[in-house]
Amino acid sequence: MNTSKKDFLNSLDLIDPNMEKHVPYALQDLWELGSMPKYIIKLIEKNIEPSTIENIIDFGCGKGAVLIKLSQRIDFYGLGIDIVPEFIDSANKYAIEHSLIDKVKFEIGDLKAYLPKAKNYDIAIYGYDSTLLGNINQTLLQLSQCIKDKGYIVLEIAFTLDSKNRIQDIPSEKELNGQLSESQLKLVDHVFWDINKIKKINRSNNKFIGKRIQELKTLYPHKSKIFETYMTNQLEESKRIENDMICSSWLLKK
Ligand SMILES: C[S@@+](CC[C@H](N)C(=O)[O-])C[C@H]1O[C@@H](n2cnc3c(N)ncnc32)[C@H](O)[C@@H]1O
Repeated sequence: MNTSKKDFLNSLDLIDPNMEKHVPYALQDLWELGSMPKYIIKLIEKNIEPSTIENIIDFGCGKGAVLIKLSQRIDFYGLGIDIVPEFIDSANKYAIEHSLIDKVKFEIGDLKAYLPKAKNYDIAIYGYDSTLLGNINQTLLQLSQCIKDKGYIVLEIAFTLDSKNRIQDIPSEKELNGQLSESQLKLVDHVFWDINKIKKINRSNNKFIGKRIQELKTLYPHKSKIFETYMTNQLEESKRIENDMICSSWLLKK
């Protein structure tokens, strides 16, 4: 399996590539797929004069929840890129539903290929959930090339406390702070996600996913094992997020 594919699967917590084509079905009841739009809105509204924001790009936009919710508060042109066609389809449907089709566009694409072409954005939003763009610094360097001078990056990232055990592919607190301060970007503000909110979201998401997984098992009984493994991993990942990681959102300025 090539590394890009592995990173894509990681971004959706998929350990079995055979689950990939069933993921849109399993996640059909969810709009937000891991980001916390509320914190992104808070960081932007608190630190940036809304009238200075012309355009925002969201790399790995899923079903568009972040841009659509931001668009309901601030007037800007938004572009969301995601590699899963079904997610982009849903994002465009949500944009129509919210009468935002003239303001936010969603396109199918591989963000790695799209990044070098993207230029002059006021804000780039990215959830660091795999090493698709390299380590944190390499990721920030690429993102900073698509924003204007004095533009902003919103980075969502999970890390482990230095006092806790390491988790593969998750930076430690020390590594995160080290790489953020080594970047050429100014740390404007950050939010550590409220654990009770995370737990509530996980409980609700896992209930919806569990129901769809049961349906998938009925539809494709010969694939039951794949679906069960996916659900088990989903529940374990939720526990890891709740107990062993801190999720955070950062506003960085060029
Ligand atoms: C954890 S989800 C977050 C989605 C969205 N930010 C949200 O919370 O609703 C990560 C997203 O990144 C997308 N993704 C992963 N690899 C990608 C790639 N190479 N190019 C574009 N999108 C990618 C996945 O399809 C998925 O929708």
